[in-house]
Amino acid sequence: MELETTLRGHTVHNAVREVGINPNYWYPVSWSEDLKPEAILSVQIWQRPVALYRDRKGAVHAIEDACPHKGVELHKGKVEGDRIACPYHGWEFDAEGNCAHIPYLPEGQKLPCAQARVYPAQERYGLVWVFPGAVELAEVRSLPEIPEYDDPDCFMIQIPGHFHAHFSICNENTMDVFHGYLHENLQGWYNPQLLKLKETEESVKADYRVHYKGWITKVLGLSADGGVTTRTVSVHYQYPHYHSSMEGVSSLYLMRLPVGPEETRSFSMLFLRLPIPNWLINPIRKPLMRLVRQYFFMPFLLQDVEMMESEQNNYRLNAQRRYVEINPAIIALQRVILRQYTQFVQQSAANDSQQHDKHNAAEGGRMADGDIVRSPSLR
Ligand code: FES
Ligand SMILES: [Fe+2]
Repeated sequence: MELETTLRGHTVHNAVREVGINPNYWYPVSWSEDLKPEAILSVQIWQRPVALYRDRKGAVHAIEDACPHKGVELHKGKVEGDRIACPYHGWEFDAEGNCAHIPYLPEGQKLPCAQARVYPAQERYGLVWVFPGAVELAEVRSLPEIPEYDDPDCFMIQIPGHFHAHFSICNENTMDVFHGYLHENLQGWYNPQLLKLKETEESVKADYRVHYKGWITKVLGLSADGGVTTRTVSVHYQYPHYHSSMEGVSSLYLMRLPVGPEETRSFSMLFLRLPIPNWLINPIRKPLMRLVRQYFFMPFLLQDVEMMESEQNNYRLNAQRRYVEINPAIIALQRVILRQYTQFVQQSAANDSQQHDKHNAAEGGRMADGDIVRSPSLR
């Protein structure tokens, strides 16, 4: 649905600061290179602790970070072949989360039925992804498409982000092209204008026209002499991640990991088409990436982090305070986040009540069979 682009006052949906995630999507949890063989990483997806490890073939596994014996965190243990072993009593769990070995159990004795929850996990685009929702949906949900990742002519910059703020605050920062003011000293963009806005059940797409001038236009190859240049920036939020691009220059994929109500991480990949031949860039890709990230992008990100955390601080002090927004793209984004959560909650409630009905029907049947209590229908 196309929406109006007029800037006018809207009251911010305070409820958006309280919602949880729709877990029925793939979430990035770590850069692949950070998950070393035989190591165990501890991560959190919306307050669910998850332990990540690799089996002998290098395939990634994600298991609930709580031992089914007494609840000790499994990431404190070690990898034993294809299994993960708890540090406390050494119980070992296989890729399905089943207890497969207890070191002190007498030989021949049956293992207890102790199972840890495992999550679908996969690796793509240099990231480890986990699906925290209903297992049967993992196959049908796809990862974001990042064609530039496999394009040797694209120079990739990986940018990690960590914010002490609710994911809605972080997502609004990405959708909000009107905050060029904040980055003025870094010669960011200026004079933005919202050109087009579209909203669907699970997405918001906003096109903005922005202006650049100064040294940044030379670095990005926007203008040879640093003069004023005008570009369209498209920001596309496809729940729960982002893709934004600047006409013919750059493409940014921002993958969001909501850790908890006041903590969010992001795994971003920025792709630039540099006017430098591959043979020159290839040997120095990694150090060049670190350099550009450190001196060019981190100063921008740090300014954003301060704003987001400041917003969260005041929300924490007074959650009742009403705020005013004038960018309709932000209001549309809030609707999507609220809708996704509400749909998930309603769907879960419907599934629970179905399970409950099935369980009751089964119980009723059993009781009637046993002739102890008659089910109402038999009276
Ligand atoms: S608590 Fe994990 S083996 Fe005992
Ligand atoms: Fe920013």
